[in-house]
Amino acid sequence: MTTTNNLRFGVIGAGRIGKLHAENIATRIPGVEVAAIADVDLNSAQELAARLHISVAAGDYHTLLSDPTIDAVAICSSTDTHAKIIIQAAQAGKHIFCEKPIDFDLAKIDAALDAVEKAGIKLQIGFNRRFDPNFKKVRTMIAEGKIGTPHIIRITSRDPAPPPISYVKVSGGMFLDMTIHDFDMARYLSGSEVVEVYTAAGVMVDPEIGEAGDVDTAVITLRFANGAIGTIDNSRKAVYGYDQRVEVFGSEGMVQAHNNTPDNDIFFSADGVLSAKPLYFFLERYTESYIAELKEFAQSIRENTAPPVVGIDGRIPVLIGLAARKSHLENRPVKLTEVG
Ligand SMILES: NC(=O)c1ccc[n+]([C@@H]2O[C@H](COP(=O)([O-])OP(=O)(O)OC[C@H]3O[C@@H](n4cnc5c(N)ncnc54)[C@H](O)[C@@H]3O)[C@@H](O)[C@H]2O)c1
Repeated sequence: MTTTNNLRFGVIGAGRIGKLHAENIATRIPGVEVAAIADVDLNSAQELAARLHISVAAGDYHTLLSDPTIDAVAICSSTDTHAKIIIQAAQAGKHIFCEKPIDFDLAKIDAALDAVEKAGIKLQIGFNRRFDPNFKKVRTMIAEGKIGTPHIIRITSRDPAPPPISYVKVSGGMFLDMTIHDFDMARYLSGSEVVEVYTAAGVMVDPEIGEAGDVDTAVITLRFANGAIGTIDNSRKAVYGYDQRVEVFGSEGMVQAHNNTPDNDIFFSADGVLSAKPLYFFLERYTESYIAELKEFAQSIRENTAPPVVGIDGRIPVLIGLAARKSHLENRPVKLTEVG
């Protein structure tokens, strides 16, 4: 039996992002708690549960789904498990927070979204960058008309180091794994839908990434339904740290969001001028956003309102990613209508 009025979460997947979400739910978000953690690697589940003083650690996530005291699950397992777990969790009546992407396959995404609709539960997708205070402010200024009509949207998104090749091989490729956040950001900032993409991509960082069938460097041009034009520039390796910037230029002005740094000290000497590098990677850069997204998810459950990032917001960036990949492979602009 539930002994508090807290929303009780089950966390599925105790890897990089599962650890972060479990810790946030357990310690940083009022009114929620972690009831149980599951991972196919039982040791990972047990270690995380012990660290956070959670009594239930399972090797099989069905243990969480059949527990009537659990209100919601956070799906943080590998991408290829998301769609199946969404369907089963929805059928078990659990609200669902699911990490991006829902899946690489549109038919599987549609089946998952169908199950969510039938069950009438809440589903939020983990596009955390929308909850970054800087990007949120840029979005608000655009929505308030401060820069007039947006004409050009520029997104720079470069990782400090590529993931292991084992991860690259199951990641769905850079467009669906990494750029997917930027496709979501493009929709979020522009308030319009992408209708066509043109990709120039290659392997500049690590030949092994190319041998695994993926790319590590890309510039993607986007055309939006409202006529605006965008560019996304990606690299899997920026030697100076995690480079996350946006700029939106419009008829009445421009708004930019720069990188976050650990401090804003600037050292001047005879050799030059030195300031801190950007915060290292997503865990450091987007700390606040991971807390804010789950706070809003919990609020949407409590107040029975729509979550801020719903299922269709999970589907469309996958569609854009598939079009970007097709454009790269066929070396031509691709309309979204061509892929789904
Ligand atoms: N929003 C973000 O910023 C962000 C950042 C990183 C990862 N992600 C997403 O989160 C997901 C996980 O990524 P990660 O980097 O944490 O990966 P990871 O490999 O570190 O962790 C995945 C965990 O899931 C477990 N797992 C696999 N199948 C399972 C199953 N059937 N049941 C229970 N556990 C299972 C694995 O044993 C592993 O511990 C991916 O979909 C990724 O795209 C999102």
